[in-house]
Amino acid sequence: MSVMTAADHRIPQDLADSLVTPPAYADGRIFETYRRLRSNEPLGVARIEGVDPFWVVTRHADILEVSRQNDLFHNGDRSPTLIGQEGDRKVREMMGGSPHLLRTLIHMDAPDHLKYRALTQAWFMPQNLKRLEDQIRVIAKAAVEKLAAATDAEGVGHCDFVQAVALHYPLRVIMSIMGVPQDDEPRMLKLTQELFGAADPELARDAGTPPEERDFDFSVIIDFSNYFRALSESKRADPKDDLATVIANSQVDGAPISDLEAMSYYIIVATAGHDTTSSSTAGALWALAENPAEFAKVKADLSLIPALVDESIRWTTPVKTFMRTATEDVDLAGRDIKKGDWLMLCYASGNRDEAVFEAPDEFHADRRPNKHLAFGYGAHLCLGQHLAKMEMRILWEELLPRLSELALDGAPAMSEAVFVNGPKRLPIRYRMS
Ligand code: HEM
Repeated sequence: MSVMTAADHRIPQDLADSLVTPPAYADGRIFETYRRLRSNEPLGVARIEGVDPFWVVTRHADILEVSRQNDLFHNGDRSPTLIGQEGDRKVREMMGGSPHLLRTLIHMDAPDHLKYRALTQAWFMPQNLKRLEDQIRVIAKAAVEKLAAATDAEGVGHCDFVQAVALHYPLRVIMSIMGVPQDDEPRMLKLTQELFGAADPELARDAGTPPEERDFDFSVIIDFSNYFRALSESKRADPKDDLATVIANSQVDGAPISDLEAMSYYIIVATAGHDTTSSSTAGALWALAENPAEFAKVKADLSLIPALVDESIRWTTPVKTFMRTATEDVDLAGRDIKKGDWLMLCYASGNRDEAVFEAPDEFHADRRPNKHLAFGYGAHLCLGQHLAKMEMRILWEELLPRLSELALDGAPAMSEAVFVNGPKRLPIRYRMS
């Protein structure tokens, strides 16, 4: 890559450091970092020891500009997620020089990307999802019933909403669509939490070990792959009307997709398919518990539910960052980006951009329009966005009419991660009819 000579656009060290500090994403510091970057250096260079330098893209308009130019800004030329030099070296050593441990849609560019996306695209289109609505509603009703059953004689209940509903509802939805047996859901949940929570002291697989002593850990990916390899074999032997069967029998250019590509496909759908939705659901409930006026607003007018869903996704922005690599020298918002430069797209910053959102640090359940970037943009625009919105809508349709009171009942907590994060604990006190 180029050496990035733009010394004048180097961002202050404390801000650069917070971008790579997982606790900063849990305690809210990251939003102050983003705010200062947007107003002082919206497209600057972060230089951090042990990490290749990267451009930090914090403005809504610039994130869109990069995301829509998929030929100019590639996903697959370097790691599409932030990784340190030592981790990158280990991945390349293990993968015969490739910077990728997996080969998901996120790691691909044209022409492969479209071909692989087309394999499952029809499954995620609203027309197909419509036929799943009843099945998803049954799962939502069960989740709401569980909350109601946990109340006392006065109708009052206490729970950690993350554990009680937010984690398990989207998990059951995506696993039933994939065709993963229900008994295996706890295993899927644990592996996903270990993958995305690798930097969180409570969620990481080697949680007892201090971060600086942890080795780069490939074992979660290996465990996922072993599980899905067996599932894939069973779906080939006994095909079903589910997504795992589609992936197991996928062909590109007339040949079956490779083992690495198939395992990567399973892993991205299984992980992205519930963790993000869980986070957005819990993020919304947290905001409603803290803002009684917003809670009253949606309860009084259930037609606001689609707006509530969009706002909860903007508010939480579970996918904090993805990386791109410039394929040519290019001028971007007055900056001299060189071929090979690495860029961090800070979606959660774009989603708090004062130039686009009025009162961006406030949760408005009826925010319209809501041009959030939480699903990305361009060729890689989230494949599961319609599913995510539909399942959240259905849950609120079932829950809000019955939930009459809601308040925090202790301190909530966010997970510590620079890539994907969200609420990991949300104690609430509630009343239900
Ligand atoms: C609130 C929920 C969700 C959020 C915030 C979210 C966010 C994202 C983001 C930011 C991207 C990258 C977009 C880009 O690079 O432009 C993405 C891609 C993707 N998402 Fe989601 N996602 C969510 C739910 C889901 C669900 C439910 C599924 C699947 C079942 C899913 C599957 C995928 C896949 C397969 C990709 C890769 C698409 C590609 O590269 O072509 N996501 N998502």
